[in-house]
Amino acid sequence: MSFLTRRIAIDREIGHVEGRGLKATLGWPHLVALGIGAIVGTGIYVLPGEAAGLAGPGMMLSFLIAGAVCAAAALCYAEMATLMPRAGSAYTYSYAVMGETVAWVVGWSLILEYTVVCAAVAVGWAGYASGLLLTWWPEAPQQFLKGPEAGGLVNLPAVVIALAVAGLLALGTRESARVNFVLVLVKLVALAGFIILALPAFNGAHFTPFLPEGFWAHEVDGVKFGVMGAASIIFFAFYGFDAISTASEETKNPARDLTIGIVGSMVICTLIYMAVAATAIGAMAPAQFAKSAEPLAFIIRELGHPDAAKLIGLAAIIAMPTVIMVFMYGQTRVFFAMARDGLLPRGLAKVHSRLGTPVVVTLFTGVIAAVLGGALPLGRIVSVANAGTLAAFIATAVAMMLLRLQQPARPRRFKTPLWWLVGPFAVLGCAYLFAGLTTFTMQVFLAWNAVGLVLYLLWFRRTSDLAGA
Ligand code: ALA
Repeated sequence: MSFLTRRIAIDREIGHVEGRGLKATLGWPHLVALGIGAIVGTGIYVLPGEAAGLAGPGMMLSFLIAGAVCAAAALCYAEMATLMPRAGSAYTYSYAVMGETVAWVVGWSLILEYTVVCAAVAVGWAGYASGLLLTWWPEAPQQFLKGPEAGGLVNLPAVVIALAVAGLLALGTRESARVNFVLVLVKLVALAGFIILALPAFNGAHFTPFLPEGFWAHEVDGVKFGVMGAASIIFFAFYGFDAISTASEETKNPARDLTIGIVGSMVICTLIYMAVAATAIGAMAPAQFAKSAEPLAFIIRELGHPDAAKLIGLAAIIAMPTVIMVFMYGQTRVFFAMARDGLLPRGLAKVHSRLGTPVVVTLFTGVIAAVLGGALPLGRIVSVANAGTLAAFIATAVAMMLLRLQQPARPRRFKTPLWWLVGPFAVLGCAYLFAGLTTFTMQVFLAWNAVGLVLYLLWFRRTSDLAGA
C-alpha cells in the first residue's frame, strides 16, 4: 500500500503488546484536573495584557470567539478520543482516517505545539516570578530577567522553570499528577481572589471605545491588531483539553471519563476567563495594563492592594508550572505513539526501567523549551504554538467528519451534537484564527513542516510499522 494512504485500524488493539502499552490508571477527576491544569495558565494570567494592546476592550469578543472555536473543536476531540482511546491524540486519529502522511504532518505539528507551549508558559511564569523578585530585590540584574528582544541577555527564570518541570516529570507521572491536583486548586483560588478584589473598582466607562483597533486582523510591524488578531493569540488560553486525550490510553472508563474530562474542563475554564477578562477591563482601562508582563498582579497592586498582588503573583508562580507539566507529558505521549508506530526512532519511546517514565524525551523537551523560553518574547512563542495547535484541531475535526461519512453505523460512545454543523464550524473557525496569525508565524510553521516532510520522505516512511504492509 502507498505510504500516502496506508492507515492504522481504528480499533487496533495495542495494550497487549509487551512493553509497548501504557497502564490504565486515570479516572475523570484526574482528567478534569489534568484539563484545568493544562488550560488555565499563561493564557489568562498574562495574555490579557497582550490582548488588551491588540484589541482594547474588544478583547472580550476575542475571548468569546476563541472560546467558541475551541468548544467546537473540543466536541470533535471528545468523539475521536472515545473512539480511539490511545496515546497520540490528533496524530493517531489522522493516522486511522487520513493516512500516514497526513498523520506525520499532524504529529510533527503537535511536537512543535507542545514544546513551544512549554516555552511560552515558562516565559509567562517568568513574568510573574520577575515581578515578585523585583518587589523584594529592586536591584536584581535586569539583563537576566529578559530575553534579547526585550533588551536583556537571557530570561533566566524561564530557563530554570522549564528544566525544573522536566526534571520533576522525569521522576514519575504519579507524583506529578497528585501535585497537579493541589496546584489546580491554588490557581483557581487566585483567580477568584482577583475577581473579588477587582470587582468593586468596576467602571463601565473602561469599555468605550470598545473597538479601538477595529474587528478584522491587520498587521503593523509584524504584529496583528484588531479583535481577530487578538483572538488568534487568546486562543492559546483555551487549549489544553487536547492534552487530556493524549492520556486516553491510560483512562479507566474512556467513554465517560474523557467526555467529562474534555467538555467539563473546557466549560469551566471559559466561564472563568470571561469573568476575569471583564473584571480586569472594568477595574482598569486596557491601555494601562497592556504592557504588563503580570497584568493581574499589576491591576491589584494599582488598586491599592500590594500584599494581595504578591499573593496572586505567588499563586501564579506556584501553579503555572502545571501547564508546562501537562504539555510536557502530552509531548512524551505523542513521541511515544509515533515511535511505537515506527515513525520516530523507537529509542524515544523507551521507558526508564526504575522510574517508569520516558526520561530521554522528557529531558529533551525540557532543554528545547528552556532555550526557546530563555531567548524569545512571549507574543512570538505563543503564536507559533497556536499555529501547531490549530493544525491539529483542524485535522481532528476533519477526521471526525470523514469517519461519520465513511462509517455512519460505527458505534460511538460519544457523539458530537449536530456534527455536520459543529465539525465545519471548528474547521473554518480554526482556519480563520490561523489566518489571524502573523506572517512570521506562518513562515515558521511552514518551514517546520517542510523539514518534517523531508525527514519523513527520506527516512521515516521506510521505518514505519506499516512499511511493506
Ligand atoms: N491554555 C494554556 C495556557 O493558557 C496553554 O497557559
